[in-house]
Amino acid sequence: MAAPALFTGVDAASLRARQGAKWNRHPEGVLAAWVADMDFQAAQPIRDAIIWTAEHSAFGYGRQEDTDTLLRACSDWMQRRHGWGPDPETGEALVDIVQGINAAIYTLTEPGDGVIVQGPIYPPFLNGIETLGRVVVDNRLLDVTGSAELDLEGLRTLAAGPRTRLLMLCNPHNPSGRVLRRDELEAIAAIAIEHDLTVLSDEIWMDVTYPGHRHIPIASLSPEIAARTITMTSATKSFNLGGVRCAVAFYGSPELRERYHRLPERIMGRPSIMGVRATIAAWNESEQWFNEVLPQLDGNRQALDAFLRERLALVRHRTPEGTYLAWLDFAAYNLSQPAADHLLERAKVALNAGPDFGGGESFARLNFATTPELLTEILERIAAAV
Ligand SMILES: Cc1ncc(COP(=O)(O)O)c(C=O)c1O
Repeated sequence: MAAPALFTGVDAASLRARQGAKWNRHPEGVLAAWVADMDFQAAQPIRDAIIWTAEHSAFGYGRQEDTDTLLRACSDWMQRRHGWGPDPETGEALVDIVQGINAAIYTLTEPGDGVIVQGPIYPPFLNGIETLGRVVVDNRLLDVTGSAELDLEGLRTLAAGPRTRLLMLCNPHNPSGRVLRRDELEAIAAIAIEHDLTVLSDEIWMDVTYPGHRHIPIASLSPEIAARTITMTSATKSFNLGGVRCAVAFYGSPELRERYHRLPERIMGRPSIMGVRATIAAWNESEQWFNEVLPQLDGNRQALDAFLRERLALVRHRTPEGTYLAWLDFAAYNLSQPAADHLLERAKVALNAGPDFGGGESFARLNFATTPELLTEILERIAAAV
């Protein structure tokens, strides 16, 4: 049976019936625009891979060939979409990216070392650094709802810190939606090389970029920067596989791989066979689906922009260049509570709270990967509540 079209049957009730975190964390009646899941119907090849697994009782341990196929599929996908296909031999399957990030912080730095991030930033970056006793070195984006430029001068200074060891990059950037330009990435690479920093590049959002913006894997810039970079990515954001659990890491040098493997061999676990099969089906067979999704996301991005301009003119916001996230500043509305709390209570709309990302209480992150109807209702509710 063919998959329903992207939006067919998708409404608040059917989304709640999926029994996931996004639509079930809050009471019925609340519209979910928080965690980075998409609300669309999934790609048929992914559905088929999961159904095949169940129908064949194929739940046993996977083979090395499955991992090899996964890494090859990722490399081919990246080559097609981003012009850089890492050698599959330099890759490894991960259960998920956040686990990989934590392992990298643990293995590549020592307690008390500094780890650079570009704040505001995806919360697990901050949590990993702090919980492991490392120090967050915040190279904040400049004017996050304006230019949202990378602070290269600041980065130069912070990189020179005597205990700064690791530079974590999130590109495209969550929550600002920035897609770093080649000149910015070249400057980052030069600074990392000059100050002998290891680079951990989270490129999970690599595919979700809009016209005029192009994702460039930092490891593709030169052999010198590649040699000090671990690139992590997955099909999770592009194909909506958040609960399926599978990701990949590519090591820029055998030495980096060795350092990362200071941990007991199996402590990281392995992705499930369903995660591996679904991800292979995504990268090898579902490109057409993704090519349909991207213009829908762009349409939502433009609708959001127009709504904010016309109906929520005091919200400060920068049109995202990538991701399906919008980083909104409600400061001018002088809300009596943090923005996300206010909107949950008064608008019955769930957004992510700014402080979780190291941002102010007036900020909230809105996920616009839903149907145009639901997006409109979410925005109408917000407009009525501020
Ligand atoms: C920047 C970034 N990294 C990682 C993740 C989560 O990846 P995983 O589920 O593989 O841990 C997300 C999810 O939104 C994200 O935005």
